[in-house]
Order: sequence, then C-alpha cells, then structure tokens
Amino acid sequence: MSANTRDSFTSKFGVIAAAAGSAVGLGNIWKFPYEAGQNGGGAFLVIYFFFIITIGLPIMISEFVIGRKTNANAVRAFKKMSPRTPWYFTGVMGVAASFMILSFYGVVAGWTLEYIYMSVTNAFKGQSPEDLSNVFNAFLANPVRPVMWQVLFMILTGIVVIGGIKNGIEKLTKILMPVLLLIIVVMGIRSITLGANVNEAGEVIGHSFDGLKFLFKPDFSKVDINVVLDALGQAFFSLSLGMGTIITYGSYVRKNNNLNKTAVEVAFLDTLIAVLAGVAIFPAVFYFGVAPSEGPGLVFTILPGIFQKMVGGYIWTLAFFTLLAVAALTSSISLLEVAVAYFVEELKMKRVKATIITGSIITVLGVACSLSNNVLKEFTIFGRNIFNSMEFVSSNVLLPLGGMLIAIFVGWFVKRSDFYAELSNENTFKLKFFNAFYAIIKFVAPVAIAIVFLYSVGLLK
Ligand code: PHE
Repeated sequence: MSANTRDSFTSKFGVIAAAAGSAVGLGNIWKFPYEAGQNGGGAFLVIYFFFIITIGLPIMISEFVIGRKTNANAVRAFKKMSPRTPWYFTGVMGVAASFMILSFYGVVAGWTLEYIYMSVTNAFKGQSPEDLSNVFNAFLANPVRPVMWQVLFMILTGIVVIGGIKNGIEKLTKILMPVLLLIIVVMGIRSITLGANVNEAGEVIGHSFDGLKFLFKPDFSKVDINVVLDALGQAFFSLSLGMGTIITYGSYVRKNNNLNKTAVEVAFLDTLIAVLAGVAIFPAVFYFGVAPSEGPGLVFTILPGIFQKMVGGYIWTLAFFTLLAVAALTSSISLLEVAVAYFVEELKMKRVKATIITGSIITVLGVACSLSNNVLKEFTIFGRNIFNSMEFVSSNVLLPLGGMLIAIFVGWFVKRSDFYAELSNENTFKLKFFNAFYAIIKFVAPVAIAIVFLYSVGLLK
C-alpha cells in the first residue's frame, strides 16, 4: 500500500477530527433545531436518538470498513468489493447526493458569512427579536447578497479541497472543533438562565424553562410518519451517512486505527453538539415568545438575540458565527471531496480541474436554491421550492436509500469473515458486539428504513 500516492490522515486524532468535522456542521446547529422545532421537540429527539444508535452507528462503521478495505472513492469501493455487479451504482447515487446537498448547504453557509459581517459591524445591537427576524427575512429576500456569499463560500471550499487531505482538512478541524463546543456550552448556560420574560405591563411573555421542557419532554401525540421520516433523514444528514462521505474518508484511514471506536466517538460528538445546540436555542425561543416551528430561519433570528443578553456580546457573536462558518466549511469540503475523488480517480482528471468543474456545477445549482427564496419563489416542484426540494430529496430520500443499500450490501453480499477481519484490524482485537452489529446490518436497518419509506409514500398504513 505504501506504493500508492493517496493521501492519508497522519494521526488517530486527525481521523476523528476530520470525520467529526464532516459530521458536525450546519446539520447540527442550523438543521437539527429547526427540524426539532417543526416536529414537536422531545418526541423528535427520542426518535432521532433511536435512529442514531440502531441505524446510524452501524452504517457508519460499515462505511468506514468499506472505505478502508478498498482504499478507493465511493464508486470504486463497490467495484472493488463486488466486481461486475451493479452495486457501484450506490456510489454513483452518493456522488449525485453530494451535488444536491452541497448546492443548498453552500447557500446556508453563505448566510453564516453575512452574519459574520453583521457581527463585525455590530448590526444586531439593540435589535428586538422581531427586528432580528425582519433583518433575516430582508436578507433572504435580496436576490444578490446571499448569492455573493454563497459563491465566496464555494470558492473557499474549493481552495481547501485542492489543498488535499493532510494540508487542508485535518489541520483546520483539529483546532477549531473544541472551541466551537465551548461556545455552545456557554450559550446554553446563558439561554437556560434567561428565566421569565415579563413586559412593562407585567405580563409574562415566556419562560426559558419551557424551552427545556419542549426539547426533553416527549409528546408522542404529535408524532406522525413525517416526523419519523424527518428524524431518519436528519440522522443520516447529521452523521454524513448514506452517500459515501465516510467511505471516502475511511479510504484515508490507516490500517491500525480502531474503526469501531472512531465511529462511536464521532457519532457521540455529533449528537452531543446537536443536543447542545437545541439547549442553546429552545430556552431562548420560549423566552422571546417565538414559535419553535419558525423553520430554517430559526437559528439566525434567535442566536443574535441571546448574544444581546450576554456580557461581551459583540465578541461572542463574532466568535460564534465565525466558528459556525468553519464548521460548515469542514462539512462542505467532505461533500465536495466525494465528487472530486470520483472525478479524479474514475474519470482520470487532475485534482484542480475536477474541483473547478464539480465546484462550478454545484455553485450554479446553489444559485437556483438561493433564488428560490426570492425571485424564483413561485417556482415549485410538488409544492416545494427548489431549495426545499433539494433538501428533502437528498436528506430524506437519497441518504436513507443509500444507507439501506449499504446495509444490504454489507449484510448479504460481503463475506462475514472478510468484514470481521477488516473491522478487527486482521483479528488483532476481539469484537464483543459483532453478532448484534451483524443482525442490525443484515435485518434491522434495511427493514426499518424500508418501513419508514413505505409508510411515507402511503403504501403501508
Ligand atoms: N453532516 C453534515 C452536517 O451536519 C452535512 C453532511 C451531510 C456532510 C452529508 C457530508 C455528507 O452539517
């Protein structure tokens, strides 16, 4: 293997940092809170946890194994493990998903750049929650500004991807992930301790504790199949699963790394950050008396409001949005890397050229997503605008479908002993829970995903 020229991660922490860098991003801090808010809070969280443990984690381990065993991109990995079969199509689907996800992801990441800019110019100072919501909506209604930031963000993503694995991705994540965690914890504490919000007339507008109740006290009466599908999609999206990201990153992992441990650590960290983001946001949502179901703008209207209530708010706001942009960047590079690795290795293209081509296509798709918030608002597909369609089809359809195929592939088409050998680093340690893992991958995960799909399209009632 030393004969090949592929990059690899230099340290164990480097692998975890890069995979966690991919997992932790807008999915945790932007998407999770607004999904939870729209889907009733606590019950969504419980279902989400359930999917992370029973489906997400086993599929993450499987992707790592496929990637490291084959040392190849998402498409070639399947060709190597199962030559002359259509299984490689799973990888092709993943490459398609990476285009779709990064198109809207780049748009939201662009919003974080605008918010860095507004933090620098102290634009949030003295703004009420209504003002903040108006600021966000006015920004979204502007056809030019969001596109400008989106394009800038995509250029940054391209630059890091061209730099390759060791120079770009690993260094960035190693330093900044712990700082982000710290800021979210501080925000959570501030948010919870906001207490009761009483106006001049003595009326209670809201109480921050109600936000904790909302997040942690499940009310299953609100659960329907759409909530379950959203939770499933969110589990895949947040863990970067079902499209070959972890296969691609797995291909850069060294043979002596314990993939089980890495997967558990990444999944734990990712879930922790999502929950902490919820803890930071929902108490403030209830304190301000805002509807938790407000949607994709939730984080952008609520968080600057929390910072207004903090000593040194200027610095916190700036630090937070800067780190959010970096977290988005470490995820977006992992998305672009799936497409680039495929173009470089399958289509024999130079890395720079592959990055420019894929990045440009994705940026154009992203412009359409961005414009669907203003000038292309009326243009809908099955009732969803372009942005929402991209988001729905990729995270709620393509990722779970990709995950299901990966589970079926590993459970039924890969030799059990081969899989065991790769996962246990050629039997250098024992895998205690392998039987349970194997049963999940073979039966539970594919069946569970299939049931959710059949329900949501109405074929099961
Ligand atoms: N997991 C990333 C996030 O939460 C998004 C992502 C999805 C990245 C799929 C790669 C693949 O922000």
